[in-house]
Amino acid sequence: MLIYMKTRDKKITAMQQLHDDIVALTHSPLYSYRTINNYIPVLGEGSLDASIVFVGEAPGEKEAKSGRPFCGRSGTLLDEMLTSIHLSREVVYITNLVKDRPPENRDPTDDEIALYAPFLDRQLAIIQPKVIVMLGRISMKYLFTKGGVANELQPIGQMHGQVYKGMFEWGEATLLPLYHPAVALYNGSMRQVLFEDVKNILKYLK
Ligand code: URA
Repeated sequence: MLIYMKTRDKKITAMQQLHDDIVALTHSPLYSYRTINNYIPVLGEGSLDASIVFVGEAPGEKEAKSGRPFCGRSGTLLDEMLTSIHLSREVVYITNLVKDRPPENRDPTDDEIALYAPFLDRQLAIIQPKVIVMLGRISMKYLFTKGGVANELQPIGQMHGQVYKGMFEWGEATLLPLYHPAVALYNGSMRQVLFEDVKNILKYLK
């Protein structure tokens, strides 16, 4: 119990440091957009002991206003997906590759990804998940590369719902790419695909 509490305290301290470092990222190309709009960087939320981490792309407007990941329409769908496999936000961890909102929700640039990805790396090393679920092609591309399996990359239409293995600094993790939930907001038939694909998580938790 004591060892668990010490580990937990270390995780909380490391996450707090990460938060402070992102807040202080004045050289980010997204920093002035953050401050002009009174946005908050979105670190992530959930359990620091989670076996499963969900990684989206970057915060949207609601997220940047509240500081919480996936709290808009995509987030409602993500919550429904979690509920469908008897999970909740409290037992998983949800974050993004890029921690500040890009203007008008455009895709993050390569430079922005290069700047923010080390924060995701640090977060993952703190949590050490068994399963990493990538929401969309941008986090998929980054994490397959980081996990040493960039050679497996194909268009997300061919990879979604299938599991792969990546090697990270804490060991092997299962990689499950899913379509980004926003896709289903514009194309209703994708909803069913997402609900089918997310079921695959359960098989890899044991
Ligand atoms: N889309 C994302 O990729 N992340 C969020 O937090 C919200 C929408």
